[in-house]
Amino acid sequence: MKKTDNQMLVIFGASGDLTARKLIPGLFNLHLAGHLPKNFVVLGASRSDMSDEDFRDRVVYKSPYLKDKIKDAPESKVKAFADVLYYEDLGKDYDTDYAPLRKRVEALKDKHDTSGNIIYYLSTPPTLYETVAKNLADAEMNTQNHGWKRLIVEKPFGYSLETAQNLNKGLHRFFEEHQIYRIDHYLGKETVQNLLVTRFSNSIFEPLWNRNYIHHVEITNAESVGVEKRGGYYDKSGALRDMFQNHLLQLVSLVVMEPPIGDDAEEIRNEKVKALKSLRVMKDEQTLYDNTIRAQYVASEINGNKVKGYREEDGVDPDSTTETYAAIKFYVDNWRWHGTPFYVRTAKRMPTKVTEIVIHFKEPHHQIFQESGMHRDNKLVIRIQPDEGILIKFGVKVPGQGFKVERANMDFYYSSLAETYVMEAYERLLLDAMQGDATLYARADEVEAAWEFVDPILNYWKSGKDVRMYGYAAGVWGPENADDLIDGNGIWRNPGENLADDPGYCVIC
Ligand code: BG6
Repeated sequence: MKKTDNQMLVIFGASGDLTARKLIPGLFNLHLAGHLPKNFVVLGASRSDMSDEDFRDRVVYKSPYLKDKIKDAPESKVKAFADVLYYEDLGKDYDTDYAPLRKRVEALKDKHDTSGNIIYYLSTPPTLYETVAKNLADAEMNTQNHGWKRLIVEKPFGYSLETAQNLNKGLHRFFEEHQIYRIDHYLGKETVQNLLVTRFSNSIFEPLWNRNYIHHVEITNAESVGVEKRGGYYDKSGALRDMFQNHLLQLVSLVVMEPPIGDDAEEIRNEKVKALKSLRVMKDEQTLYDNTIRAQYVASEINGNKVKGYREEDGVDPDSTTETYAAIKFYVDNWRWHGTPFYVRTAKRMPTKVTEIVIHFKEPHHQIFQESGMHRDNKLVIRIQPDEGILIKFGVKVPGQGFKVERANMDFYYSSLAETYVMEAYERLLLDAMQGDATLYARADEVEAAWEFVDPILNYWKSGKDVRMYGYAAGVWGPENADDLIDGNGIWRNPGENLADDPGYCVIC
């Protein structure tokens, strides 16, 4: 096990939802598993007027996200965890003098002997990332003379290529790149990491992992929920910014990348950047028209319950043209993938919550079993969630005379590794940052390369000629023309059951 130095975690935006929902539960799990260092302190900082006790109540004792865990844990363990959580009120604004914060940090450092190692976690609105970094620097809280300093930055990282570049430049004024950890919680998912292992520690997949054997690659990220209480945020973001630019392009980079020379963070990230840079950027309107589909969910009834359409959601503009469904077809311009189409889609209000990568292999070059009825491809399905696992679909002979071929499944589920505890994404990523391992964090050039691909699509959707916003009834697999994106007579693999009672399609504008 890697060593975790004594340290302090300062969370900016500590009164927000993410702290209670993900960060503290992640830390609590690390505490129970004995992964936290001996001397460790969390200092929450934000604009709410709270005492240490209020903060502990909010994120531990009265937290709905820890309720079940706490019930099962010994009281002394819970108390030991809560006792190292502190809170500092920053006043009205994050843009303020951090001298009082520094004083508090110094006092806690001395009290708990945390040796001056500090992670600053930015869980504030993104417009404040640079402000917080600057104020930390002004208060000389970014210096590394007595202990290292690291900065974890939440998504969204930028709103476009230009804003992401500016943010990188802004942060680099106060922190060096090796101190910055851009979090993408998909990289904390076990099956996402397993993609690297599947590809690079088996000799059976990698030889086939190229244009000669793979017909196309399909990635689906579906959520059954709508925008819930985040309409205000989501309406300014949309599916492409919210999921595709970050989480899904991270998955794409792991599928596309060349084998790194080792498992060092920089080696892996170098290959991921190369992969993202090799995505063919779509420039002209016709290409963008032909290869992208956006849509919004409209009101429907799911299992007898009325479900609002996107434009009726709280915080959403009734004339909104923000997409809740995005499907993109693209190519990768390198030796390995020349001519192999990639189809990637993400959406809210789909029939089920599922994320999976499907590698469709080419049909055998010569069909011996003419009457087999099976001219379909072999598939490798990598299920990221919910039932994390891997499935291979291949042809087997049906018993009896002749050579009738049937499709068989060979599957592996993570849940079958009974004794193995699978860490939550945030838990894993926090521990990595605490240990200085940036492998599963996005580097500046990686984020910018992803924006480079996404920017022209966003611009086209904003003001392109003939651009359409399709509608799909909440609870179905997207708009009627979704399959048009797939070459030939291909269709999306729609995993799970369609729960919608009343599917329907339309063009909204
Ligand atoms: C977040 C998006 O980054 O990821 C949300 O902002 C989305 O809109 C969420 O619901 C999905 O994460 P997961 O882990 O549930 O697939």
